[in-house]
Amino acid sequence: MLALTHVSAGYGPITALDDVTFTAAQGQITAVLGANGAGKTTLLRTISGLHRPRAGTIEFDGTRIDRVSAERMPGLGLSQVPEGRGVITELTVEENLRLGGLGRGGRVAPSDLTRIYDLFGVLGDRSAAMASTLSGGERQMLVIGRALMARPTMLLLDEPSLGLAPRIVTQIFSLLRDLVRDEGLSVLLVEQNARSALSVADRGVVLNLGRVVADAPANELAADDQLRHAYLGF
Ligand SMILES: Nc1ncnc2c1ncn2[C@@H]1O[C@H](COP(=O)(O)OP(=O)(O)OP(=O)(O)O)[C@@H](O)[C@H]1O
Ligand SMILES: [Mg+2]
Repeated sequence: MLALTHVSAGYGPITALDDVTFTAAQGQITAVLGANGAGKTTLLRTISGLHRPRAGTIEFDGTRIDRVSAERMPGLGLSQVPEGRGVITELTVEENLRLGGLGRGGRVAPSDLTRIYDLFGVLGDRSAAMASTLSGGERQMLVIGRALMARPTMLLLDEPSLGLAPRIVTQIFSLLRDLVRDEGLSVLLVEQNARSALSVADRGVVLNLGRVVADAPANELAADDQLRHAYLGF
């Protein structure tokens, strides 16, 4: 459903993505793995229209999206959860969630909110609390909930596990798994935490210095000692 073909991107003289080709299938979790500076964030920003590729094509559901502006992506079913869990701390949990529903143009239905509160019970319990009072894990849930308010068919996540306790990471990843199973959501999960990401993903793409060095089922990547030691850090 998402297909990148010979995509290159960079910043001035720096090449951050070099001839990247892979697909992320519908109803699956595709993990994009790689060390610091591998190009993971550039990849997500290029897919979501925040960064213009220098070469190559990106297709989503059969439509070319590499010239589509970021504002139009939620309308096409692509919703990004950026790095760093940026919630608006001066707004309540519910107000933050409502912002995620605005991208679709219409009004936010009560059922959109109850759906998120069913998924993340803690957000329902704290719906009237200021977002500034949330823990790191709760903020990560809030930014995921906010992205889901746009009712995406594919969710793009940039390092959701960063800085969170292993127990919270497991909770968030198993929730993504449930969404894929129950709603047919597709997920592109960018992670440096390769061990956790591969435990939940169907497939994995490994980037090194902007190039794809492996693309295989997640269990095969996890079982490849040489690859793990060279690129995945576990
Ligand atoms: N705004 C920018 N200007 C110049 N170079 C940049 C910019 N953003 C990223 N880069 C460079 O592009 C390359 C890829 O960076 P990118 O942030 O995509 O990697 P990453 O895999 O997300 O890394 P991390 O794990 O640290 O988040 C790096 O060499 C980085 O220094
Ligand atoms: Mg990054």
